[in-house]
Amino acid sequence: MSASLATVSYIGATILFILSLGGLSNQATSLRGNLYGMIGMTLAVLATVFGPAVTMAGIPWIVGAMVIGAAIGLYAARTVQMTQMPELVALMHSMVGLAAMLVGFATYIDPAAALSFTGAAKTIHEMEIYIGILIGAVTFSGSVIAFGKLSGRISGNPMLLPGRHWMNLVGLLVVIYFGREFLHAETLSAGMTPLIVMTAVALLFGVHMVMAIGGADMPVVVSMLNSYSGWAAAATGFMLSNDLLIVTGALVGSSGAILSYIMCNAMNRSFISVIAGGFGTVSAAPKAAGGELQPVGEVTPINATETAELLREAKNVIIVPGYGMAVAQAQHTVFEITKQLREKGVNVRFGIHPVAGRMPGHMNVLLAEAKVPYDIVFEMDELNEDFPDTDVAIVIGANDIVNPAAQEDPTSPIAGMPVLEVWKAKTSIVMKRSMASGYAGVDNPLFYKDNNRMLFGDAKKMLEEVLTALKV
Ligand code: TAP
Repeated sequence: MSASLATVSYIGATILFILSLGGLSNQATSLRGNLYGMIGMTLAVLATVFGPAVTMAGIPWIVGAMVIGAAIGLYAARTVQMTQMPELVALMHSMVGLAAMLVGFATYIDPAAALSFTGAAKTIHEMEIYIGILIGAVTFSGSVIAFGKLSGRISGNPMLLPGRHWMNLVGLLVVIYFGREFLHAETLSAGMTPLIVMTAVALLFGVHMVMAIGGADMPVVVSMLNSYSGWAAAATGFMLSNDLLIVTGALVGSSGAILSYIMCNAMNRSFISVIAGGFGTVSAAPKAAGGELQPVGEVTPINATETAELLREAKNVIIVPGYGMAVAQAQHTVFEITKQLREKGVNVRFGIHPVAGRMPGHMNVLLAEAKVPYDIVFEMDELNEDFPDTDVAIVIGANDIVNPAAQEDPTSPIAGMPVLEVWKAKTSIVMKRSMASGYAGVDNPLFYKDNNRMLFGDAKKMLEEVLTALKV
């Protein structure tokens, strides 16, 4: 393939990636967005493999690597559970970081690259290598720790070392100092030492940064690492003089940064305080997330038949799904109930919190899978003020996102986080298996409110019972 055809293909792929991001911003167009992304990526890979940068001798290596990579990717995509998506994403980010690191070292020791740069161009090239490896190393080790935390292999509690901010500052100064040494190195071996020291510091920084972050801030961290992986890819693009990689990396980097910002807003956290870590240290909960809490009040249980009766008599119902709906895979039964109620003239709507579940858009994906119409699915801000006019608010496997302590208790670890105000409905019904806490590990005063009822049990099983009772 000629260089100009490869460039045209790259421009085509760039346009498709932008259209893909645009499409993914809305449920109705997300399928199309995915399709654009897939076509764009195919075009990009073909233009790279058959482009001028790859010699015939390199093709078998690339094809071999692609077959192995595609097999692993296919296996992971087929076997991974929806609830394990965030950890899979974290693992993938770590691969991008690792690739950026390896490309950095390979570029530095590549004799051809060393000969083709002199003077200022050489300095710029070496800066690209240094920064590329730096971002790659932080992304790699940070993502591995994020994977460990999300999959429960490492404790979700923040690890707060004494003087940790000072340690980070010293790390930064070391990186700057060795960057200067690296740029002034006369020989390859002289440059290798500062490069390796910086890599070690960056790897430790990545570990330290994510270890210091508590459970409830993990979504922001994953999206921040997503952004880093984009910048790592862009840095790789500079090292390899590949324009498409620079543009794609910048798209991922900036969209990840925007998503982190949106999520910080949704959790009422400043980005700096998330990065500085330590959130979740003051736990109001007697026990950590998922553990059995000591009840701090009386709760009023309800059964499936009584729930069906309340729903049947209601005019306005808001359903708030959370992580438990994903675990129970209850979305199809939820939709069956919705159809039944709508046929009886009940106004049923869904209220989605921006960080409900374990990844951005988690609930939207599940509801779309169950074919819930988009026009009855609303963002938190769109219907939060409608709860006082709602007869029944039904919470399915959600906890933190409906916790009034976020508004009522300034000492709560989730104080200030915007929440769905289900307790303002005439009756709220919380469906969960026990009194266990949610992800943030904090107690939920909603459970003890006079107008709240607890429907204990697995969400899918209980909803099936409600559906049966509704059909009678
Ligand atoms: P959580 O606060 O984690 O609460 C989920 C609840 O579901 C639990 O209290 C659990 O109680 C219940 N549950 C679990 N399995 C169930 C089942 N089979 N049937 C019925 N209930 C079940 O979830 P949420 O309200 O969706 O809030 C999300 C939390 O995760 C936030 O703190 C958020 O910051 C964090 N987070 C979000 C993301 C993103 S990006 N969305 C990523 C990581 C973390 P029982 O055990 O008693 O059943």
